[in-house]
Amino acid sequence: MKTFTALYGRPAEGEWAAPGRVNLIGEHTDYNLGFVLPIALPQTVRARAARRDDGRLRLWSAQGGGPVTELRIADLAPGAVPGWAGYPAGVVWALREAGHQVGGADIRLDSDVPGGAGLSSSAALECVVATAYADLYGLGLTAPDLALLAQRAENAFVGVPCGIMDQMASMCCRPGAALFLDSRDLTARQVPVDLAGAGLALLVLDTRVKHDLGDGAYAALRAGCERAAAMLGLPALRSLQPSALADALAQLPTELGPLVRHVVTENARVEEAVAHLDAGDPAALGPVLTAGHASLRDDYRVSCPETDLAVEAALAAGAHGARMTGGGFGGSVIALVDAAEAGRVAAEVTAAFRAAGYAEPRTLTAVPAEGARRLA
Ligand code: GLA
Repeated sequence: MKTFTALYGRPAEGEWAAPGRVNLIGEHTDYNLGFVLPIALPQTVRARAARRDDGRLRLWSAQGGGPVTELRIADLAPGAVPGWAGYPAGVVWALREAGHQVGGADIRLDSDVPGGAGLSSSAALECVVATAYADLYGLGLTAPDLALLAQRAENAFVGVPCGIMDQMASMCCRPGAALFLDSRDLTARQVPVDLAGAGLALLVLDTRVKHDLGDGAYAALRAGCERAAAMLGLPALRSLQPSALADALAQLPTELGPLVRHVVTENARVEEAVAHLDAGDPAALGPVLTAGHASLRDDYRVSCPETDLAVEAALAAGAHGARMTGGGFGGSVIALVDAAEAGRVAAEVTAAFRAAGYAEPRTLTAVPAEGARRLA
């Protein structure tokens, strides 16, 4: 893969974009080294950036609202930069930790990826900075290299033990396709998703319940999966075949069983979803999505009353299938609907929220879009 720099030389400044994502299916499978199936959203984080030669990183965000954050890159250390600036600073730290000779930059950020909505605004922020730096400093890194550096920034600098899905989605997704990614070795295939051709649309219903991966629940689930894998003598739960699930559940303490059942069945659902897409039958994703939600709600227990209500109301309004997307504890629901019915389904979900006394959900339509790229 030729990098931008190889083709055009090293720019002194420019503008880059990296998208948020929704995951069609394969939730909490990535850190168990299983399959995921995200698409990139048209919504992006954009960065206008220029190199600086004085070792300073100056960050400004249209959404952050505050003054410019100015940091000395020599002082960057895990945990030292609070708030949103920790993500871009973490990327610069991760690049330097990996031995890349990068200096400072001025970076102005703007975003239309809703924050805290389970749509990967953090990964988009990391990935746009990684992409800009790779071009500005002529690093010659591939998209998966940059995804891994972005993940390291989040794991080691910000302190959130996320998997690799969001960063790979933001870096590697292509228009009109879902990224069928094997998290064990990062092999990936672009699977065409022609929703419009099938008369379908994918609604995103942001419940506005703030989803925050930093609160420890995500880390506890991940630790539970790792403990279960160790008890079963496996490198990761991905290695547990569905045919061996019943035996495994009999060996595990009761609190770990449902986690393992979710991971094993969810991984199989990704393969099932890919088979439907390969067969040119995206409507058949519907029941797979709904089964995935039941598993997240009942076994993994990361849904909440608002996401459950959005799923139920979308199904009652005629959606082919619906599920929460992203880490959970709030965030967004996706619903696969007939394109002609999208407005009515969204209105019925909104009415159900009103009747329950919840804040109205924000509605987007997801069209599989392009991964991180240079704009100017
Ligand atoms: C978050 C993490 C991802 C993944 C999802 C759950 O988005 O960043 O790595 O684990 O949750 O599927």
